[in-house]
Amino acid sequence: MQAAINGIKLAFTDEGRGAPLVFIHGFPFNRAVWQPQVDAFRARYRVIAPDLRGFGESETLSSVSTMAQFADDVHTLLNHLHSGPVVLIGHSMGGYVALAFVRQYPAMLRGLMLVGTRSGADTPETAAGRRATARKVKTEGVDVVVDAMAPKMLSPKNSDIAMASRVRELMSHATPTGVSGALLGMAERPDSTQLLSKISVPTLIVAGADDMIIPPIESEKLADTIKEAQLKIIPDAGHLVTFEKPAQFNRALTEWLERTGNILEKAVG
Ligand code: MLT
Repeated sequence: MQAAINGIKLAFTDEGRGAPLVFIHGFPFNRAVWQPQVDAFRARYRVIAPDLRGFGESETLSSVSTMAQFADDVHTLLNHLHSGPVVLIGHSMGGYVALAFVRQYPAMLRGLMLVGTRSGADTPETAAGRRATARKVKTEGVDVVVDAMAPKMLSPKNSDIAMASRVRELMSHATPTGVSGALLGMAERPDSTQLLSKISVPTLIVAGADDMIIPPIESEKLADTIKEAQLKIIPDAGHLVTFEKPAQFNRALTEWLERTGNILEKAVG
């Protein structure tokens, strides 16, 4: 599905009925990465998953896609869909977007799930590296990013070649404009650590034990600081834990949703 959102065409999945679960993909993916979750949850929940601007089938006009802009797009989409308050689930860069959403639209949140992500800003060196990569992607294409990141997406113990090639394929749909915009946006994102103690909705933090991109210690820090947080570390899983271990990930989400059921029921109304 597609809608005109904030001056661009934004593509999204909207399936099922019930309390809305909103899935925000990481970098440089698109909503197709959530297929195992869409399949598992649409029977009991309303599952909404946008392609962030510049990714998948969504357009972009921005040379810099800030986390605030991504969050605003998601919020405008949710208003367009009359979703009411939601449970927001963000993976990695999607987690940065989820934290921007917490900052900007706390009244729209009934629950939060942060997956393989962190609250801190980039160090000056990391930000400079992203800016250099953004320039390179403009001239050499997205393989610069795909080649660097694809080998780190799954656990080093994972020898499933078909899965690795599917991950690479999902990443290679990204475009130079979308990728460079998101890199520049991530480079300038603010530190959200001070925000964590203000989060009052039930929160589930999930990480792959073997995450080589954002180490699980970052998830432990999130869980230590957010009041209502529970932490689940999934063994033998890398950065893309949602895709690599869908059964374990979906079980963690299901159990948490069941534990927090009374809150989610309010989200439907
Ligand atoms: C992601 O997986 O979304 C990115 O690796 C996050 C990042 O580069 O900080």
